[in-house]
Amino acid sequence: MKKKYIVTPWEVSGEIDYDKLIEEFGLKKIDDKLIDRIKEHTGELHPLIKRKFFFAHRDLDWILDEYEKGNKFFLYTGRGPSGDTHLGHLVPWILTKWLQDKFDVELWFQMTDDEKFYFKEDLSIEDTNSFAYDNALDVIALGFKENKTYIFSDFDYARTLYREAAKVAKKLNFSTVRAVFGLDESSNVGKIFFTCMQSVPAFLPSIKYGKNIPCLIPHAVDQDPHFRISRDILPKLGFYKPASIQSMFLPGLLKGGKMSSSIKESAIFISDSDNEVDKKIKNAFTGGRDTLKEQKEKGGRPEICMVFNYFNVLFMWDDKELNEIKERCKSGGILCGECKKILSERVKKFLNEHRKKREDAKKKLNKFILKD
Ligand code: TYM
Repeated sequence: MKKKYIVTPWEVSGEIDYDKLIEEFGLKKIDDKLIDRIKEHTGELHPLIKRKFFFAHRDLDWILDEYEKGNKFFLYTGRGPSGDTHLGHLVPWILTKWLQDKFDVELWFQMTDDEKFYFKEDLSIEDTNSFAYDNALDVIALGFKENKTYIFSDFDYARTLYREAAKVAKKLNFSTVRAVFGLDESSNVGKIFFTCMQSVPAFLPSIKYGKNIPCLIPHAVDQDPHFRISRDILPKLGFYKPASIQSMFLPGLLKGGKMSSSIKESAIFISDSDNEVDKKIKNAFTGGRDTLKEQKEKGGRPEICMVFNYFNVLFMWDDKELNEIKERCKSGGILCGECKKILSERVKKFLNEHRKKREDAKKKLNKFILKD
């Protein structure tokens, strides 16, 4: 049977069946037992975990085993800087920040400006490198700890990273890269090599501190293929397999697909003005009915509504409030226009506050950046 969706680090499309993806990628579901175990350490649960938007993992139970033995992990995540940050990118970073606060651990944050140079025909090295520092402001604006967070561009930290990437490259065959990513003989060799760079931060702190340190990588599930390779190679170099915690995709505002920079009208960027936010949300796909009469009679369908989706993931973290709006929608007691207005106000407030923090981040950028 033909698959109805594609999930790779460079293409996400179709209607994703996350249960099937768990099987296909060989992931483990984050179940209630594991969630309870997280709560034992954190005291409370982040909505992104409680609502199972982070739905899958690799070895998160092992990370907790080690933590309980006093063997602390570090966090690793990243960004392929190809333009402005959008709300979808923030999802894994928001959880990463929460994990850093709760477990008091380091974060290593990779800006893969080399990746975006290899993969985006129209972008120069200068472009992707400058986006790296611009996007870093969005990371810092989320409030990561200054003395425990290291952000680096692949180009500007290359002397350190390349040595380690070479060790990965020596153990990795083209046939594996081709099988995992679907590349072929016509792909530029930068694309083929690149995954080696994305493996490095999963063991770099172990090198820096001269001892093996467990690594936990929060990300959306599209990045998993890279870490399947890391998990295969790192033990061959004497390091632990990196663990991961994986989220679903924040969808675009229009019907179908993840929020993606390439469909501008479907994505909300950090740089969007109040007017743009209003306009985009006005056009969002909802579970509303064709006529007002029908909607009042039959009620709306939150399960297919993008506005409700945004409430669920980022903009309504109070469970009681979320349930109330869901019930009102289903009974026809609230109409789509009203929900869109609530969402618009929340998104604009969030973006305006974030942009202020982003301005402040400019003053402390250097404190976070590693270069060599
Ligand atoms: P990039 O820039 O495509 O995406 C950055 C992070 O955002 C996640 N993401 C999303 N999450 C939820 N909803 C969405 N619509 C959405 N779109 C993107 C991605 O999964 C990612 O976690 N190669 C990477 C950069 C990278 C990296 C890493 C990412 C380097 N090392 C380690 C995660 C972990 C990239 O291009 O990400």
